[in-house]
Amino acid sequence: MSTHKVKIWDWPVRFTHWSFVLLLPAMYVTAENSEWGWHMRLGHVLLALIVFRILWGIIGTDTARFASFVRGPGAVLAYLRGEFPHKQHKGHTPLGALSVLALLGFMLAQISMGLFAGDPFDGATGPLNPLVGVGTADFLTDTHEWFYWVVFAMVGVHILAIGLYGAFQAQNLIGPMVAGSGEKATNVKDNSPTPWVRALVCLAVAAGFAFWIYSGAPPLT
Ligand code: HEM
Ligand code: HEM
Repeated sequence: MSTHKVKIWDWPVRFTHWSFVLLLPAMYVTAENSEWGWHMRLGHVLLALIVFRILWGIIGTDTARFASFVRGPGAVLAYLRGEFPHKQHKGHTPLGALSVLALLGFMLAQISMGLFAGDPFDGATGPLNPLVGVGTADFLTDTHEWFYWVVFAMVGVHILAIGLYGAFQAQNLIGPMVAGSGEKATNVKDNSPTPWVRALVCLAVAAGFAFWIYSGAPPLT
């Protein structure tokens, strides 16, 4: 089959991805070393990035949009039966889409719990801690303190799946996640250009939202 190089992942998808790779271990290390100032600062950056990725999943480019890659059980089963044209397709596979939802969902859950975590009389508190009672804050703190294992287990599955995919489908997935482009069948169209203005709008909304949370989510009127 003849192939050509096409753009697969836009820069916002790649930038958020590699930021997650750096920030998740940093969140763990800062927590374990009680570097709460850094845990909070990086936590708000992570919040802004994940909100940005979700907004970009609604109005971003083709391969970034949830509506274009999240498929029903039929498509997932067909994929598992091996009925999937890898070279004719760019972006997440139907099964890969489920792991994307799990990775983003688990990260969002961990971040959200962190916002309410802590004890005002002992150590650090998330910016939304005063909005909940002591019992709720204790429960969310306890869950936040073990749930990162669920997030990291999912990351382990993710990295294993990428390795297996590379081995059995002879496809390099990492190259496109770094450089943006990969080899696809000649009838596969390029995923460009990146709509910069829309990306800036998503960035402004995400940063504004994270700042509002950082300020303790004050009433807007
Ligand atoms: C995915 C990202 C995150 C990871 C992996 C993570 C990890 C952790 C871990 C492992 C602990 C327990 C530390 C210990 O007591 O041994 C912790 C505690 C905490 N985290 Fe996070 N965290 C994340 C996001 C956040 C965010 C976004 C915030 C708030 C902005 C936050 C606020 C807190 C607070 C307030 C505590 C409790 C501090 C205390 O016990 O005094 N975390 N985090
Ligand atoms: C903390 C660690 C990681 C997290 C949270 C994470 C999360 C994600 C997410 C959410 C996506 C979906 C991309 C999107 O549409 O926005 C993704 C895709 C991807 N990740 Fe990661 N990732 C992590 C580590 C890694 C590492 C270490 C590698 C390289 C070995 C990697 C390689 C990839 C590749 C190649 C894709 C694209 C898969 C495809 O073609 O469908 N990831 N990752």
